[in-house]
Amino acid sequence: MSKVVRTNTGAAAPDPSEAEVAARVEALMGRMSLEEKIGQLTQIGGAAFVPGPKPEDVIRKGGAGSVLWLNNTKQFNVLQKIAVEESPAKIPLLFALDVIHGYRTIFPVPLAMASSWDPSVAERAQAVAAKEARAAGLHWTFGPMLDIARDARWGRIVEGAGEDPFLGVAMAAAQVRGFQGPSLGAPDRIVACAKHFAGYGVADGGRDYDPVYLPEGQLRNVYFPPFEAALKAGVGTFMSAYMDLNDVPASGNRFLLRDVLRGEWGFKGFVISDAFAVGSLVTQGFARDGRDAAFRALSAGVNMDMASNTYPQHLAGLVEDGTLKLDDIDAAVRPILAVKVRMGLFEQPYTDESKLAQVVALPEHRKEARLAAQRSMVLLRNEGRLLPLAKSLKNVAVIGPLADSMEATEGSWMVFGHTPAAVTVVEGIRAKLPGAKVEYAPGPEIRRDIASWFDTMMPEAKKVPQTPEQAEAACQTAVATARSADVVVMVLGENADMAGEAASRASLDLPGRQEELLKAVVTLGKPVVLVLLNGRPLSIGWAAENVPAILEAWEPGSEGGHAIADILFGDVNPGGKLPVTFPRKGSHAPLYYARNLTHSPEGSPMYNPRYWDGLPTPLYPFGFGLSYTTFSITSLKVSAPQVKVGRSVTVTADVTNTGSVVGDEVAQLYIHQRAGSDSRPMRELKGFERLTLKPGETKTVTFTLGPAELSHWSTNAGKWIQDAEAFDVWVGANSLATLHADLVVVC
Ligand code: NOJ
Repeated sequence: MSKVVRTNTGAAAPDPSEAEVAARVEALMGRMSLEEKIGQLTQIGGAAFVPGPKPEDVIRKGGAGSVLWLNNTKQFNVLQKIAVEESPAKIPLLFALDVIHGYRTIFPVPLAMASSWDPSVAERAQAVAAKEARAAGLHWTFGPMLDIARDARWGRIVEGAGEDPFLGVAMAAAQVRGFQGPSLGAPDRIVACAKHFAGYGVADGGRDYDPVYLPEGQLRNVYFPPFEAALKAGVGTFMSAYMDLNDVPASGNRFLLRDVLRGEWGFKGFVISDAFAVGSLVTQGFARDGRDAAFRALSAGVNMDMASNTYPQHLAGLVEDGTLKLDDIDAAVRPILAVKVRMGLFEQPYTDESKLAQVVALPEHRKEARLAAQRSMVLLRNEGRLLPLAKSLKNVAVIGPLADSMEATEGSWMVFGHTPAAVTVVEGIRAKLPGAKVEYAPGPEIRRDIASWFDTMMPEAKKVPQTPEQAEAACQTAVATARSADVVVMVLGENADMAGEAASRASLDLPGRQEELLKAVVTLGKPVVLVLLNGRPLSIGWAAENVPAILEAWEPGSEGGHAIADILFGDVNPGGKLPVTFPRKGSHAPLYYARNLTHSPEGSPMYNPRYWDGLPTPLYPFGFGLSYTTFSITSLKVSAPQVKVGRSVTVTADVTNTGSVVGDEVAQLYIHQRAGSDSRPMRELKGFERLTLKPGETKTVTFTLGPAELSHWSTNAGKWIQDAEAFDVWVGANSLATLHADLVVVC
């Protein structure tokens, strides 16, 4: 190991070859004791809420390979110095944190970025996040979150790319490229972590952490693909999920972590458990005690124990009594050391403390955040072309509890220790209309009925709740403010702590008195625009019929207020599309477009309603989104009516801007296999492209349908197959596309 201490301002060294990495790892292993090896398998918490000895003391003894929940450059260097100068094997630490949608410059939440249907947005966002995080001294992020989520009640739907595996694959690969760059040694980048492997989004009832029951076909056709895509994009690490998958906790699940991840996919990096998850194998009623938990997690394939302290307590004993072999430990340690070698940490363990301020102030980071927010927003309704609003407006009211909330604008999953600093909607509109009167009234506050443990860390949740009288007065002030305006912008939705971990909901209604306030304002008869800030689909049935314009802005990040104003006042034409279905009611969840057909499909002569007390169809379908212009999609052609198994055809269609302003359309390709070895979903997304078109302009989109798109994992056959069967093909602007062609796959 180099004795020369350099900082991360040093020039990047060329990537070492596999053989070089292996040789360096072996050399290190040769001089490590069992305790130090187990130390490398141990991630400790740097935050006060984590019990146990002081990090300095653990690190000095070589008892930790990584530190999480610390966000302090100076302290990173202090701890790193202890690791590389005082610990016995002098192995540098990996500093890890959840950098989910930005470090200091906050980007739209991942669900929003998926709404852009533009993977390059996510790639650039995560590259900026990586650059800032690396400048802060971080090496490793716990992202991207790749759980497909079809149940809008589940709070963590906000962290992923939504309900669809095809879109999920594109977003997964893009985020890995963004975080990591071309290799693990890339400067200004960090190692990514594909999480939570696997099936976490299918928690029973949408209740976070609840058990998951998923047949293998569902796992392989729907839930695995984004993870495999991350792996193919070179992701350095995986995180095992918390919950039981088919009665085996994911963090003790050999099928997931050994058979599939390493066996079938050949993953060479390392797996970390979710926080405390190794210890939780006992709580979950799977492992007998801590010793059994350590044994089962390690044997299942968890290399690193996140913060539960179970590995350091029990692994040595398990080796000493022969339950585990030294080889088992060595095999777990090697990929961790390999990541450190590849990252160049031995050469450059420290961080230049003067760099962060300059990096987070780079104007291009804010520019990227604004662009990402603009491209992520989805126009859900625009009756009578109320939008875009005129910049000549003189008197605008901005109403709602989220209109001036930095927390709600930046959204859930803030970096540990981050202070929200977003441009709010009120600020964005004021900046856009410097000469106008822009009045703001929040109306009644909104808050969770039941706080989570995470709320103890959120200043918002510590505020004294409004009394009913205060709420009523706030409501009246808001209505009076709206009454005196020419146009009202209502900013409603969810607080940052209403989506994310431990933030599931039984209802998808607007929380608190927001709908009541909306109704009171709409009754005034003014033009009303509803801007939604939220981390999941909401059941906004009343608004969808009564509010002329609705913009789904999600949780848009640091530049959110500016991006919203850009769209409301026509500087930007919205072009995002929903990556999730909007159900009419929370009780309709899970609702997603790629369901199998039934014996009584909609439109059939003997159709039977799914519910008798309300339409079960989506309020807004997957893939939906409007624009300030109009488009037509025509001339669908499949290059041949038949294709042989294993061969490909080309699908083309013409997309024309039929309106009068430049705008974006996302052409979407869907297929359906009509019969075969298994029932297949009535529609499956198999291609998309976001296009910018001038008025009158036509572009031709070209998609490929080949074995990758036309195969599936067959429950009946127990393997991947491509059936020689007939397929429907559609291209259109959302999952209800009607432009249709036939394709027959033949032997
Ligand atoms: C628990 C969460 O499930 C996971 O997503 C996160 O990365 C870890 N905590 C670390 O903060």
